[in-house]
Amino acid sequence: MRRRLSLLAGVAALGLTLAGCGGGGDTPSDNGNAKDATGKVGVFTWWADGSEKAGLDALVGVFNKDFPNVTFDNLAVAGGAGSQAKSVLAAQLKAGNPPDSFQAHAGAELQDYIDADQLEDLSSFYKDNDLSSQFPKDLVDRLTVDGKIYSVPSNIHRANVVWANVEVLKKAGIDPEKPAENLDGWFADMDKIKATGVIPLAVAGSWTQVQLFENVLLSSLGVDGYNGLWDGKTDWKSAEVTTAIKAYEKALSYTNTDRDSLSDWAPATQLVQDGAAAYNVMGDWAEAKFAQDGDKSGVDYTYFPTPGTAGVFDFLADSFTLPKGAPNPAGAKAWLTTIGSAEGQTAFNKVKGSIPANTTAKTDDFSEYQKSAIKDFSQDKIVSSLAHGAAVPVAWLNDLSTAVSKFGGDKNVDGLQSSAAAIAAKFAK
Ligand code: GAL
Repeated sequence: MRRRLSLLAGVAALGLTLAGCGGGGDTPSDNGNAKDATGKVGVFTWWADGSEKAGLDALVGVFNKDFPNVTFDNLAVAGGAGSQAKSVLAAQLKAGNPPDSFQAHAGAELQDYIDADQLEDLSSFYKDNDLSSQFPKDLVDRLTVDGKIYSVPSNIHRANVVWANVEVLKKAGIDPEKPAENLDGWFADMDKIKATGVIPLAVAGSWTQVQLFENVLLSSLGVDGYNGLWDGKTDWKSAEVTTAIKAYEKALSYTNTDRDSLSDWAPATQLVQDGAAAYNVMGDWAEAKFAQDGDKSGVDYTYFPTPGTAGVFDFLADSFTLPKGAPNPAGAKAWLTTIGSAEGQTAFNKVKGSIPANTTAKTDDFSEYQKSAIKDFSQDKIVSSLAHGAAVPVAWLNDLSTAVSKFGGDKNVDGLQSSAAAIAAKFAK
């Protein structure tokens, strides 16, 4: 853990914690070349429906063209943020039954798999495909663990975005072009919205509440305070954290009361699209849904960084792996070839709402939102998402998610704060 912490300490410089730590791994076995691949390649993701499946389909379209001799086998398990998929995957890996490739979040989550010795070293794959020169150097550095690299990132998503219904804001007398600058200003806007009879803030079940919590922590504590929650520099028991949790309680008070029964992020975003709610804090996979549903940016919906987080890019990336014991490693490398390629990244990210990790990918016809995200990523301070596996290992996230869900019911500020402190102490050992 000390090694993890010391490496995480570098976060402030760039913010990325992309698998930047620890880990073992054996000498890579001779597991075939992408160009010789045939048969079926089983790929495990949680992009099972809606705009997420559309993104995966776009990627598979390029894959089928790149590798006509390989058949894509879709092993997706539904549930946003991998809420169901990650435990299914863990059981498969434990049983020695890995897929050919699986989606994992770059950062602490990926580190779990590396530490468990479940991933092949892809260093020579990177060399063969000249990937290091196509991804930003800082990204490659942070994907490198003890001189080895274990995954190929497909995208970069942003988790601190508010999506808003333009008409609803106008009716409440709020200028859609001028978002609040901090949480207090935003809550004042939410009061105006509430007065019009519309739900101010849409949220869904557990993981979307964790993402809202993460946004409030980031806004309330600032970049250093937020980063410090994960590397031990911010005291979870401090007065600043109490203030942040109270702000989260206030944010929750503006949300739809049926939040726990909304199955996933899409129904919450839909409330905004329908004009039943004003705002939804969601990662920019929501942009893909707005686009897929034909909504027009600036007319039907607008977006802005969560108030108090302008200039900060709350980052996550979906990265693909070659698990040890994969049935078709050559097929997996074929898949990873498409994942890393400029063409694959353009096709995928255009539909997924994210931005390419491969800097040579063409983005000319990307949406206005995506172009703004590309710009922001190049100049903002980068922090790691909690809800999406970048900031903490899966076990830490699971425990904290349970505490955040409980808080949704009991609103016990002391309870959440002491649980979160105890969880941090447990995992920071
Ligand atoms: C994230 C993932 C995104 C998107 C989102 C909602 O964890 O990185 O690509 O799928 O969950 O399901």
